Amino acid sequence: MDQMQWVPRHLRKQMMAKGLSIPTDPDDIKRIKQQSEARLKQTIQQETQAQRQRLYDRDSLTGGINRSFTFDEWQPTVQPNPQAVEIADKLKRQGIWIAKQLETSNFNIIMAGGAGVGKTSMALAILDAIKSFKTTMFVSSTELAEVMRNQFANEINKQRAEHIERSMREVDVLVIDDFGTEAKMSSRDSEATEFIQRVFFTVSESRQGKTTIITTNNSRQELQVIYNDKIISRLISKDKLHQMDFTSLNDARSN
Ligand SMILES: Nc1ncnc2c1ncn2[C@@H]1O[C@H](COP(=O)(O)OP(=O)(O)OP(=O)(O)O)[C@@H](O)[C@H]1O
Ligand SMILES: [Mg+2]
Repeated sequence: MDQMQWVPRHLRKQMMAKGLSIPTDPDDIKRIKQQSEARLKQTIQQETQAQRQRLYDRDSLTGGINRSFTFDEWQPTVQPNPQAVEIADKLKRQGIWIAKQLETSNFNIIMAGGAGVGKTSMALAILDAIKSFKTTMFVSSTELAEVMRNQFANEINKQRAEHIERSMREVDVLVIDDFGTEAKMSSRDSEATEFIQRVFFTVSESRQGKTTIITTNNSRQELQVIYNDKIISRLISKDKLHQMDFTSLNDARSN
């Protein structure tokens, strides 16, 4: 066999046109083949991740907010007094540190505090920082509760609810935004409350070993009253390094 056959004909032509000689040494050939296989593997991996991300974007429930925020945009100085600026600055550094840790590990994160203190935008900044190496999904709890309630209306709604639940189980990093608020809204509808508890339980069970970021206006004690213990223990981090306490910050909403 021609020793140069291992290079595809169109490349051989190009190499010859440029005056490059085709390697014939078996060790060189082996090394080149391994390199090109590794590159092909990486391309396939990236393409698979991009395809999955498109699915997770489709299934995200953003609750009407703009789903993009970066650490550069997250400014401690939006807080009105020096003490709060200092706490916000610490939170920003904790958020950046968490995003870095997620490169090599998985753990749950909880962000608790009042309205307008920057929890959702911080969660979005973390998603932005990790998007090149993890798939991400954002789900507003109130919108999720609505999707789950509406699923019995017709087949299309049912399928959509199933897709969303599956993506929530599978995605690398899931944000559950405003956890606890949906329970207040549906507290008079016990069937709906039971249903959303079941969804959170199934999702939390499947997500062991992955990362779930919870934002909430409630304390752990309040969440324990709303949800089954099994859900709390699977979703809410007990590690101080992964708990982000926004409770002493002020509402930064401009309107
Ligand atoms: N540190 C910050 N830097 C820049 N913008 C901020 C910051 N904190 C809050 N904001 C702005 O204030 C508004 C409210 O922030 P965000 O939605 O993150 O608050 P939240 O804590 O999630 O509130 P809620 O509990 O009501 O959902 C947003 O428009 C956000 O852009
Ligand atoms: Mg929010």
